[in-house]
Amino acid sequence: MLKSKLDKYNQTHLLSFIDELDENAQNQYLDEIDSIDFDQLSKLYQKSIDVLDQTDVGKGVITPIECTDKNSLSKEQQDFYYDFGINIMKQGKYAALTMAGGQGTRLGYNGPKGSYVLAAPIGKSLFEIQCNRLIERNNRIGCTIPWYIMTSKENDSSTKAFFEENNYFGYEKSSVYFFTQNCLPMLLENGRIVMDGKNKIKQGADGHGGVFKAASDTGALDDMKARGVEWVFVGGIDNILVRLEDPMFLGFVAYNKYKLGGKSLIKRDPYEKAGVFCKKNNKPCVIEYTEISEEMARMTDSEGNYIYGDLHILCNLFHISVFEDMKDTGLEYHVAHKKTNYIDETGNVVLAESPNAYKYEAFMFDAFEKYDSMGIFRVKREEEFAPIKNKEGQDSPQTASELYLACENK
Ligand code: UTP
Repeated sequence: MLKSKLDKYNQTHLLSFIDELDENAQNQYLDEIDSIDFDQLSKLYQKSIDVLDQTDVGKGVITPIECTDKNSLSKEQQDFYYDFGINIMKQGKYAALTMAGGQGTRLGYNGPKGSYVLAAPIGKSLFEIQCNRLIERNNRIGCTIPWYIMTSKENDSSTKAFFEENNYFGYEKSSVYFFTQNCLPMLLENGRIVMDGKNKIKQGADGHGGVFKAASDTGALDDMKARGVEWVFVGGIDNILVRLEDPMFLGFVAYNKYKLGGKSLIKRDPYEKAGVFCKKNNKPCVIEYTEISEEMARMTDSEGNYIYGDLHILCNLFHISVFEDMKDTGLEYHVAHKKTNYIDETGNVVLAESPNAYKYEAFMFDAFEKYDSMGIFRVKREEEFAPIKNKEGQDSPQTASELYLACENK
């Protein structure tokens, strides 16, 4: 039965070494194969060869989007939004969600990115930093914000172990909910699933856009609903200035009756490598720096402000109904062409010298286009953005730590 399924999808190579495995390893491996949705994979593969990137910006009409600059609001407006947000938090209708399922390949750290400990004088892991901020807010509002942590199959057990070892950094254990995102096998250019070992399939987490489907598939969404959560802030693990608990942002989005909100900051120069907020066919959208024309990237208004200058920094707020809307279908996958080593059908390791495989990921911002409007709240870079992506140089632990300390000492 399995054999004929593999035949149908041209994946029989997966069984090349099955006879070399003991019974236990065989069963585990066969279960893994059985859990693969071959039909979905074959459709994704077809798309990959049709067009490498399906973002399809070319087909949309791009126009600027309105953003609200936090710092241009009056003190009264700021206080109003703050109080509005605090009130929602105090009613237990707010949750924070940290996406920590990424592979962190660029950082090259052996372990979940969140367990990376920054050097003295910070001396804390990325998880602890986020946790401390939530605890501070909990103390001020007098209740505990539920904290959802998205892991991947690869790092789920090590993430949980890290929390256990550290006694949850003092967070109320019953308010922390881990859930694991889906993963997808990588495919070679000939459509065959990448084998990483004789009984190992190379699977990758399905991107930060996988959060909606994962929350629903794993019960995290039901848990939110059972707790009466109406608003969910979603941020990454790797921005050490991320505010998982910002009442003003919450108040701004909720009071203005948006279903979703995003924080932005002004790009440093026309070519900063991040997506910018805009409208596509009149719907909110983010376009990648690679997809925007040079002319659009440089365009300014009469005061010299970039027209397409608000960067998406993966700090988003969603009404729970957005999770509901997205729960069955999830988001479409994009394909990336990656370099990966693999073993061939004779068991030889093939070292990749150039991109040779496809990896599939969903992008969170593809959700935005499904709505008519979105509350974009522009904040200051130095207060809210210190990403850790690379081992050294730009966006590294060192640069992020400097930004973090500068902000703490202000
Ligand atoms: P990045 O896109 O920067 O990827 O993730 P990454 O996996 O951390 O790092 P590289 O590209 O392999 O070096 C931005 C945020 O989204 C989360 C990451 O954990 C990070 O917080 N993410 C990304 C997920 O939770 N799951 C994914 O599948 C991808």
